[in-house]
Amino acid sequence: MEELIKRAAQDLANSSYAIALTGAGMSTESGIPDFRGPSGIWTKNPDAERRAYRSYEFFMENPKGWWVERVTGPNIFGDLAGYSPNAGHIAIGDLEKYGILKTVITQNIDGLHEKGGTKNLLEYHGCALKLRCVSCLSRMRREEIDLELLLKEDRLPPVCSVCGGVIKTDTVGFGEPIPEDVAEKSLEEAWKCDLMLICGTSAVVYPFANLPRIARQKKANYEIYIDPSEGKRPTGKTTVIEINAEPTPLTQEGISDYLIQGRIGEILPKIAAEVMRIRQI
Ligand code: APR
Repeated sequence: MEELIKRAAQDLANSSYAIALTGAGMSTESGIPDFRGPSGIWTKNPDAERRAYRSYEFFMENPKGWWVERVTGPNIFGDLAGYSPNAGHIAIGDLEKYGILKTVITQNIDGLHEKGGTKNLLEYHGCALKLRCVSCLSRMRREEIDLELLLKEDRLPPVCSVCGGVIKTDTVGFGEPIPEDVAEKSLEEAWKCDLMLICGTSAVVYPFANLPRIARQKKANYEIYIDPSEGKRPTGKTTVIEINAEPTPLTQEGISDYLIQGRIGEILPKIAAEVMRIRQI
């Protein structure tokens, strides 16, 4: 593993436009279970996954009923606001601070990348600590709207103060389109990058799982995305690195160049320290 950690640090140090894609495996060491790992939420409770597939459909049919259930019922994660970033999140934040990582695209809704120092963040499946207008995509912190009061005064669902559209949680449900601002930006980043670091995802949920495939397939003619004056020009080939507890379809299909198999919280800080040494940061 040490050899691969050194290789990843060298690849990152050589990159011109590296991005990170992350999944629930980033947050298990913060105490938040993943979905499909050995003690994942769906692994332990397949019924919860089946119910999750119905959630967006129910919202579209009956936004008021959906909100009443949300405000009065339990959340499968409990209160995500109480969790802290782990060494993996901090290392990702540091790699952005060193100018190595340009963007992080996460499937996680727990807000831990932001708490871990990441600034340029795309929350592909939204964030459980935020709300979003489904019409104009305005987003606000959950605490900005008093949902219990709206319930008491029978004024659910919340409506957007900008456009009057219906507001839902920012988290993207199964079957719900990825908000187009995030979807477009993520696609652009996948085309732009010359290195993609993929941490803690089983890579089985689409369209997110398309992004590594795009990075693998793109052509050298996308050099327009990298300013030649920066010197290093991408070869067109994108280095795709996985850090995960187990192989994934990206490993099996050869989408990733290599898998560093193990714990993210142990591996990422070593990579960040090695990049610092190489770049004399
Ligand atoms: N270090 C390395 N890998 C880990 C760690 C860890 N500490 N903990 C878990 N993993 C790995 C698991 O082995 C698994 O392969 O992370 C991966 C997490 O996969 P999933 O649980 O499927 O999570 P994710 O890929 O993010 O799921 C995608 O599915 O249910 C939806 O919307 C939900 O965003 C989620 C999407």
